[in-house]
Amino acid sequence: MSPPHTHALDARYYTDPELFEIESRGLFSRSWQFACHASQLAEIGDYVTFALNGENLFCIRDRSGDIKTYYNVCQHRAHELLRDAGNTKLIVCPYHAWTYELSGQLRSGPNITAVPGFDRSKVCLSEVRLEEFCGFVFVNLDPQAEPMETWFPGVRDEVSAFVPDHGHLKPVQWVEIAERCNWKVSVENYSECYHCRLNHQTFSTGVVRPETYDIQPQGHCLRHTTECQNLDQMSYPIDLDANPHAGHYSSWFLWPMFSFQVYPGNILNTYHWRAVDVDHVVVWRGWYAVDGMSSKVLADLAQQDRQTTVAEDIDLVESVQRGLRSRGYRPGPLVVDPAGGVNSEHSVQMLQQWMRDAVDKDSNINRQKRRKL
Ligand code: FES
Ligand SMILES: [Fe+2]
Repeated sequence: MSPPHTHALDARYYTDPELFEIESRGLFSRSWQFACHASQLAEIGDYVTFALNGENLFCIRDRSGDIKTYYNVCQHRAHELLRDAGNTKLIVCPYHAWTYELSGQLRSGPNITAVPGFDRSKVCLSEVRLEEFCGFVFVNLDPQAEPMETWFPGVRDEVSAFVPDHGHLKPVQWVEIAERCNWKVSVENYSECYHCRLNHQTFSTGVVRPETYDIQPQGHCLRHTTECQNLDQMSYPIDLDANPHAGHYSSWFLWPMFSFQVYPGNILNTYHWRAVDVDHVVVWRGWYAVDGMSSKVLADLAQQDRQTTVAEDIDLVESVQRGLRSRGYRPGPLVVDPAGGVNSEHSVQMLQQWMRDAVDKDSNINRQKRRKL
């Protein structure tokens, strides 16, 4: 195994549209990506459509109560099947009315029985790998993908323990944050707290104790742990006796583009990144509560987060993206402290290794393919 890289990733990984294409066709198509929250599909027949990596997909709850994900494309002549979100008893294509069961199986179509030998049991919507993970639905376009437990060992149990009510949560609000930077700049910024004390005063003095902050890999998860400020210094009240993790903060970043974050008080919030193009990303901040009931604590916290940490990070990542385009930038040494801790970039080193692996592997395959042509 080659020794870990000691310098930051070359700027071209963040600025070259060709490398972004390689990521889209490779990494994004074989990793676990957030699709929707299970509470959006409470009843049989509830569905939501969404775009992922250039593909139109939809999730739907079938008659046995399971959630299924399909490519949103009719198996007749490729019209899209469903739009937006809603509830339906059957999936009816708007083009020629071919009709599918919620299980994806073709049920009927005008005049199909007139076709000699037409076997409707052979026609089925194309299904996509899916896993429910603490009430969140993730999909993977790679049918051979390893299960999420292999990618992110132990995380499901940990999040469940930190959010005991996760089965009853519903989204309270989703805040969409557009950032003019490559998705990796935003993800790296999220994955180190070396910049926290200087740039996130509220977070560093009102929520966590930066001197105890650390981030360690756990499979392809980066787990953030920290002690919290004393209760009297917290920026909002919490009931410490509610459960064993009521006073804890933690976050689980799931490579490549999702993070569960739990604030003291068992307040679950999420980040999910959607890469738009090589230098634009949208970050969705989700906030969740039992039955979707907002409270003053949650509303204040979400607002505080938006006005402080989120706003501060936008300035940072957009400045970095401009810098990556500068001819004057040479990738600098990462500050990797063997003892870890808040002032170490070991987590960025790990992340950049995953980034390199994802792109370089596919670049080599492409090169070999070109040579064979
Ligand atoms: S394309 Fe769907 S019924 Fe023809
Ligand atoms: Fe930050």
